[in-house]
Amino acid sequence: MDFSRQELIDILKDDSRNDWLFELADRVRLENVGDEVHLRGLIEFSNICKCQCNYCGLRSSNKTIDRYRIEPDDIIFYAKKAVDMGYKTVVLQSGEDDFYSREVMCEVIKGIKELDCALTLSIGERSFEDYKAFKECGADRYLIRIETTDRELYKKMHPNMDFENRVRCLKDLKNLGYEVGTGCLVGLPGQTIESLADDILFFKEIGADMVGIGPFIPHPQTPLKDCENGSFTLALKVMALTRILLKNVNIPATTAMETLNPNGRIIALQSGANVVMPNVTTKEFRAKYEIYPNKICINEEPSQCRNCIEGKIKSISRTISKGYGFRSNS
Ligand code: 5AD
Ligand code: FES
Repeated sequence: MDFSRQELIDILKDDSRNDWLFELADRVRLENVGDEVHLRGLIEFSNICKCQCNYCGLRSSNKTIDRYRIEPDDIIFYAKKAVDMGYKTVVLQSGEDDFYSREVMCEVIKGIKELDCALTLSIGERSFEDYKAFKECGADRYLIRIETTDRELYKKMHPNMDFENRVRCLKDLKNLGYEVGTGCLVGLPGQTIESLADDILFFKEIGADMVGIGPFIPHPQTPLKDCENGSFTLALKVMALTRILLKNVNIPATTAMETLNPNGRIIALQSGANVVMPNVTTKEFRAKYEIYPNKICINEEPSQCRNCIEGKIKSISRTISKGYGFRSNS
């Protein structure tokens, strides 16, 4: 099944066929990636960020949050804990924090790759040389959402950033042999349905191996504080269409979806998603990594999240993968 741009727009605008859409996406998911759910252990290792994204609570001008940085050795320690807990992929995520230079990151990557796991980085825009060095040290995957393909909206949302550089990052990562993840926010103020259709086509064109999609949730300490929430259903529709068009990619049931709907991740797993990224950061840091408000699991410890999500996945008769969860076979 392949939808044209116009068909994508029509489906996104029409809510009368949503059940059909979600069922189709669930079938395409089953046919292409099966019933296994891949769990990725997420370590949020620094909330320090030099960027100014208008939607993000970690933006550098937010002076009200308590900033932290986890020491390189401690990141490796937490990664080991995640692997001991059964995670086959560790995801390292942070704000764009220059403390973690090429050299520092390479040491962390090498330390983690001594463990039995795949490693995903999500640390923002870096140079080709940095990406190359990280790959040579063993990093397997990289996540960097395009956020929106609407150039004007991109410019408004990201002061001092450049859409073309973000695309350059995605292309560099792809050329270096990473599995590459991208994605978008759904419900940014001024975002059009047409641009969401373009986002989906962009994921396909860039050759994304993973696509993360979540609703925008306004953060009180940002310029967008008075805007409305993105729609859970619309985010789910963008995700379902991404599954139908991109077939065998890995798609997470995102935490932002669960923030807007108490059963959001399970609904997403039944509408095209096949990945969950439980937080493995210890409780002392969780509340501080406040990209958006009301994030789930800020009062839980890593083992509680693991048990919770395993139970939920089993309750819908899906299985937890024992493989590394690469796009082409574990
Ligand atoms: N609401 C929802 N998602 C957000 N992100 C950043 N700020 C928000 C927000 N207010 C997402 C971005 C980023 C990812 C790590 O978190 O898409 O890529
Ligand atoms: Fe954290 Fe359910 S995943 S408590």
